[in-house]
Amino acid sequence: MMKSVGFIGWRGMVGSVLLNRMREENDFLKIIPHFFSTSQLGQDGPIINNKVFKNLKDAYNLNLLEEMDIIITCQGGSYTDTVYSKLRKNNWKGYWIDAASSLRMKNDSIIVLDPINLKSIKTALDDGIKTFVGSNCTVSLMLMALGGLFSNKLVEWISVSTYQAASGAGAQYVIELLKQMGALYNVVSKDLSSNVYSILDIIKKVTKKIQDDKFPLKYFSVPLAGSLIPWIDIDMGTGQSREEWKGQFETNKILGSKNQVIIDGTCVRISSIRCHSQSILIKLNKNISLKNMEEIIVNHNKWVHFIPNNIEDTIFKLTPSAVTGTLKIPVGRLRKLSMGDKYFSAFTVGDQLLWGAAEPLRRMLSLLINI
Ligand code: HSE
Repeated sequence: MMKSVGFIGWRGMVGSVLLNRMREENDFLKIIPHFFSTSQLGQDGPIINNKVFKNLKDAYNLNLLEEMDIIITCQGGSYTDTVYSKLRKNNWKGYWIDAASSLRMKNDSIIVLDPINLKSIKTALDDGIKTFVGSNCTVSLMLMALGGLFSNKLVEWISVSTYQAASGAGAQYVIELLKQMGALYNVVSKDLSSNVYSILDIIKKVTKKIQDDKFPLKYFSVPLAGSLIPWIDIDMGTGQSREEWKGQFETNKILGSKNQVIIDGTCVRISSIRCHSQSILIKLNKNISLKNMEEIIVNHNKWVHFIPNNIEDTIFKLTPSAVTGTLKIPVGRLRKLSMGDKYFSAFTVGDQLLWGAAEPLRRMLSLLINI
């Protein structure tokens, strides 16, 4: 029997990417979709297969939610905090798939990234687990890139520097980044179209604009265009940001590791739009050749693309602009480091909204549809 699936937060950035991927994969033919809204009940929902889904349902109406076999939400943590426990208290036995982080740490939830942990997901389903949560985007993208090293239990520790896109912070932040870029362009647009310009004068005008009180700063608080922000998420009080803390915690939860793999580093927001990049220093627990390392990485899953460590391939294939909007996970800049035989560097890029957010949820939904 076709399952009833309730969608919440489908209009947001991750939700829209999810719906687009489901359209591309014809997933809507396999379910009975119901669209909910926290603020626009009664209004029109999305168009799926040329049909407008009319009359959006109230996303806070527990009776309506309890009719669903599966609920998939990209609405955010505060919605989950308000609704999830009430549904479970009412003995609702449906499956809950969530993009937000609120339920990730619960013992009875599984973080889903099936190319890495399909076996754990299936065991959890057999054990009656009903709550499945997408992981932090940098964690998903790093695991997709280096899954082969983890499945071969080769990693002793990882140190990572991230270059995270504005989309990871939310839609408003993407808009603000573009406004900042526009403000910088506007202040020098005349100089740029002239054949005679003074570069120092241009830099001076742009710098003055960045430091101007009226620069668009409502969301980021500080300039991102023409700058970067080396802090993401809240302060854990240990010197680590929560984004940095998640790296080790979520990776090990996904891997189900008995021995924790140590992961730490610095997470940085940069001005790319929707692709996160990561520069990774890996200490292996044994000495393998560079060729062997490459094969292990590339053979792990069909989305990983090995990018040879040369200028041409790197600048054309290993960048946010080359990867944006695709499911590709390029891994390049692979080399042994001068610290010793077991030390490697790698650089990887991934679309934060696809493998970093919507795609693992879509694939979890597909698994549930077929059981
Ligand atoms: N926390 C991530 C970021 C979003 O700020 O980029 C995806 O989990």
